[in-house]
Amino acid sequence: MTNGERADTGTEPDWDALAPAFDDEPDHGLRDPGVRRAWAARLRSWLPDRPCDVLDLGCGTGSLSLLAAEQGHRVTGVDRSAAMVALARAKLAGRDAAFLVGDAALPPVGEERFDVVLVRHVLWTLPDPGRVLRHWRGLLRPGGRFVLVEGVWGTLAPVGLPAARLGELLRPLAAQVRVEPLAQDTALWGGAVDDERYALVADV
Ligand SMILES: C[S@@+](CC[C@H](N)C(=O)[O-])C[C@H]1O[C@@H](n2cnc3c(N)ncnc32)[C@H](O)[C@@H]1O
Repeated sequence: MTNGERADTGTEPDWDALAPAFDDEPDHGLRDPGVRRAWAARLRSWLPDRPCDVLDLGCGTGSLSLLAAEQGHRVTGVDRSAAMVALARAKLAGRDAAFLVGDAALPPVGEERFDVVLVRHVLWTLPDPGRVLRHWRGLLRPGGRFVLVEGVWGTLAPVGLPAARLGELLRPLAAQVRVEPLAQDTALWGGAVDDERYALVADV
């Protein structure tokens, strides 16, 4: 995350304008082999062992979608930014993946259902995350899983969704909720970070 993306000014970032340079951040583009390996290992541990249908909401340029596809999963990505979706389509060209322009809060997937809802650094920006999670719960097949990567960024005017709050919102919707702290794993971020970063893996 960079300051340019944060909603702390009260205005929503212009994701179409940010799209061309989005992958320049180490944890966005995953271009550094060490950072890429770190995210691939985490994702492998969060996703089921068998090939499954993953819904990547607010998929951005598709960096996590690509890791999931490389691990044998079928991916549907949704992002409101047409520029992000164009980059994701190019990044996963030839793979078992589809990308849609649409609202992550109400993904335009019709009757399709998924084994995993994967979301990184998006839920905290959506109005009424509890309502959004209830809708996403309905997009999961029985035995499905949430993989939510979120955090709280900044110290003076922090923005984000603390793990404790997200856990409270998810527990009524899931049989099992596990929080994995991520801030201490510098390989994920391309350097040291001092804010709260975590993944929450919840089986429904
Ligand atoms: C910080 S980026 C994260 C991208 C990707 N999940 C990743 O981790 O690399 C936030 C993304 O969410 C998208 N986004 C923000 N609000 C959205 C919404 N309501 N519906 C769909 N996409 C949204 C933005 O366009 C942007 O691509």
